[in-house]
Amino acid sequence: MRIGDPKIVAKLAELNVELQHAAALADLTSLGIGGTTDLLRIRQHEILPDLLNLLDANDVQYKFIGGGSNLLVGDGELPWVVLQLVRPEPDVVLDGNFARVDAAADLGRMITFCAKNDLGGMEGLIGVPGTVGGALRMNAGAYGMQIGSYVREVKLYRAASRKLETLRGDQISFEYRHTSFAPDDMMLSVILELPSKPFKLILEGIRICNEKRRSSQPLGQKSAGCIFKNPPGASAGRMIDELGLKGLSVGDARVSDRHANFFVNAGQASAKDMLRLIADVRERVHKNYGIELENEVVVWNA
Ligand code: EPU
Repeated sequence: MRIGDPKIVAKLAELNVELQHAAALADLTSLGIGGTTDLLRIRQHEILPDLLNLLDANDVQYKFIGGGSNLLVGDGELPWVVLQLVRPEPDVVLDGNFARVDAAADLGRMITFCAKNDLGGMEGLIGVPGTVGGALRMNAGAYGMQIGSYVREVKLYRAASRKLETLRGDQISFEYRHTSFAPDDMMLSVILELPSKPFKLILEGIRICNEKRRSSQPLGQKSAGCIFKNPPGASAGRMIDELGLKGLSVGDARVSDRHANFFVNAGQASAKDMLRLIADVRERVHKNYGIELENEVVVWNA
């Protein structure tokens, strides 16, 4: 979608929003898949209500992107614009055991910055690509921990009230890869309370998690992490592997040889290829195990 109306363009400049015409979403997602649309980069949280009123008043549909690491975007010209927060400097401010973190901060860099200041707890998430906002909205987790356990306060743009709001951690429910945020809420910043731990000890935990991840996941390849959620008491990756589906391909979309719940873009995969592969694997698992796998990856299909 293109924003061409000079009145909207002028208003965006007034709101200090950077407008990038015809951005390729393939460049903004870890899968390297996705069509083109205008990208609106937001430098100040406070302008969000005005910005979204402007877009609504002009019938411009929009979606929010974080790090694009758990996202499968449709092909071709997309019917909505994409909003993204510009990362401020500094993006993490510490106060005792509390870390105030901007949603646009890189998750891994935030974990290492806190570690260097003897604040731990998040070691399991090292190596998970994406922003802190993205991790927060889906309650990212790994190796027995989840980000939600450390959340004390979240500042967000609430789609329902069309306002910026601040929620206490206990007003939010964090479940397995799911939170009580609405799909169109936009994470802005978070306060985490992290346990004190000597840097050396945190590093040891980080090293162990890195090794585990390296040995079981296709880290160097374009992927969106796990495609399906694990059903209660079962492992999607193990089931797909047991069915002998590693290497199964549609075009360049391919079930990883290393971890069967990772689907990789082995070259020029389209969203159509990836969606067909997902549907095919889901159907085979359903036929053989009677289990309907639920997507973990977020799909923006036009
Ligand atoms: N397994 C296989 N074959 C495979 C993959 C896995 O047999 O191809 C077996 C493993 O041997 C193991 C079991 O399945 O016995 C579980 O595998 P793994 O330990 O790799 O964990 P997972 O359940 O597949 C989950 C998360 C990952 C997270 C890891 C580590 C989900 C959907 N996935 O994977 O998160 O990194 O645990 O904690 O919850 C993600 O969210 O995108 C993600 C990758």
